[in-house]
Amino acid sequence: MMNAIHPMPRRGRFTAGMLLGLTFLAGSVHAQEGGSIKAGREATQTCAGCHGAKGNSPTPAFPSLAGQPAKYIAAQLKAYRSGKRENAIMNGQAAGLSDQQILDIAAYYAAQERKVANPASEGSEMGAQLYAHGREGVPACAACHGVGGHGNQPAGFPALRGLPAAYVGQSLKDYRAGKRAHGQGSLMLPVAAELSGEEIEALAAHIATLD
Ligand code: HEC
Ligand code: HEC
Repeated sequence: MMNAIHPMPRRGRFTAGMLLGLTFLAGSVHAQEGGSIKAGREATQTCAGCHGAKGNSPTPAFPSLAGQPAKYIAAQLKAYRSGKRENAIMNGQAAGLSDQQILDIAAYYAAQERKVANPASEGSEMGAQLYAHGREGVPACAACHGVGGHGNQPAGFPALRGLPAAYVGQSLKDYRAGKRAHGQGSLMLPVAAELSGEEIEALAAHIATLD
């Protein structure tokens, strides 16, 4: 009896883990190889007004997209399209995109060089410390986003350099409130849940200095 019952949950756990691994792999390969950069350039004509000609935003009102991992961009566009990530402007922008257009757009922006035009000169001591080393209960941001905020392409972790402070602050508050929980957002929820308002402001100020 015992022998018959015990292997069941163990096999169940194993399968779930393997499935997760496979989904992760399939997602990254698909997003990078299924998209056409050329078609993506066409499809982003309407995006350029806000996100810049090659995805380097001309104003702090909009996040730059150049150089973000294709997997990350595709996941965000699908989340805007389905409403899982809420933003009035972007829910509308993504509403009419097909799966193929999303892959094309993601491939296009991922292939563009990220340029940080005006890094902030005044940072934050507390933000720099947290970013590089974390603290008890908070892992170092650099571990996933890179020391200079370049992100991690293969893993699909977004670049943070060049993101406006207001946007970074809002994103961290959204994760802290349990929003953006879709996909790899689940990695950010426990990190942001630990952050105080003061720490969020400090991190946003430090990230704005990354060039
Ligand atoms: C009218 C301005 C505007 C236009 C046009 C626009 N966007 Fe956006 N986009 C924004 C804003 C504002 C945000 C930040 C929204 C938020 O906080 O969730 C954003 C966020 C994004 C993000 C998430 C960035 C990140 O770092 O997570 C992606 C991806 C994106 N836009 C892609 C596009 C694409 C593709 C198009 C064209 C089909 C487009 N946008 C058109 C204003 C715009
Ligand atoms: C375990 C890896 C990991 C750690 C540690 C981590 N992040 Fe993240 N971060 C991610 C992933 C993955 C995403 C994309 C999540 C998604 O799809 O919404 C992300 C997204 C973000 C975003 C949104 C970027 C955008 O373009 O919208 C910000 C801002 C951010 N992280 C800041 C931080 C800060 C600040 C820290 C340190 C306190 C930190 N992260 C620690 C993995 C991590």
